[in-house]
Amino acid sequence: MIKPLTVLAVLVGATGLLRAQLPGAPTIDFNKHIKPIFSKHCYECHSESRKKEKAGYVFDNLNRLAGSIGENEIIVPKNTSASDLLEIVTMLDGKRAMPPDGKDKLSEKEVMALRTWIEEGANLPGIDIAAKMASEKRARPKQVMNWTNAQGKKLRATFEGMEGENVLLKSEEGTVYKVPMTSLSQGSQIQAQMQAK
Ligand code: HEC
Repeated sequence: MIKPLTVLAVLVGATGLLRAQLPGAPTIDFNKHIKPIFSKHCYECHSESRKKEKAGYVFDNLNRLAGSIGENEIIVPKNTSASDLLEIVTMLDGKRAMPPDGKDKLSEKEVMALRTWIEEGANLPGIDIAAKMASEKRARPKQVMNWTNAQGKKLRATFEGMEGENVLLKSEEGTVYKVPMTSLSQGSQIQAQMQAK
């Protein structure tokens, strides 16, 4: 006969395993894994409560930390190569290396935790980073770009979105063109795909 306790142990073990393997479930928890790293290595010089705000960065006020997360910020969610933070904490020396010369560098494990946290979306407790980035994207003024069709005809226009397989382009005069994706040059097709992301 199987003992009830054994069944329980197997069940607990199995759900733990399931949770760990659930695709998309974050493995890094900010308070548990990331905050201690900032606290140990960064608060000394970047903390609002300690009134140390070198270069204007603080890592203990989550609302202000959220301001350092986004496109063109030091932390770019899901884009580790664009995230300056990872670069400066892995530099061995130089003016930008953080923590600065003489201070203990982050361990490989700590760097890996930061990397995974960024890959998983740089989430902060109570702050919806994806929603913040989406609203920033909507608020960003659209950029006039050069577009070329397959015949080499050029148009300067802003990308207004996709409508099925058509690209909506607004010329500088304000006319909106509905251009089939396949009629654009290859470079412009890639540009449209990037914009549509
Ligand atoms: C001993 C003090 C000290 C510690 C500890 C420290 N910093 Fe800094 N940090 C500075 C100073 C000073 C500057 C301004 C450097 C400059 O502008 O030349 C700076 C600047 C920065 C910048 C802006 C640099 C840039 O090039 O954009 C970032 C981001 C940063 N620190 C992140 C961190 C992180 C993350 C940690 C912890 C892993 C950390 N710092 C630990 C002193 C510190």
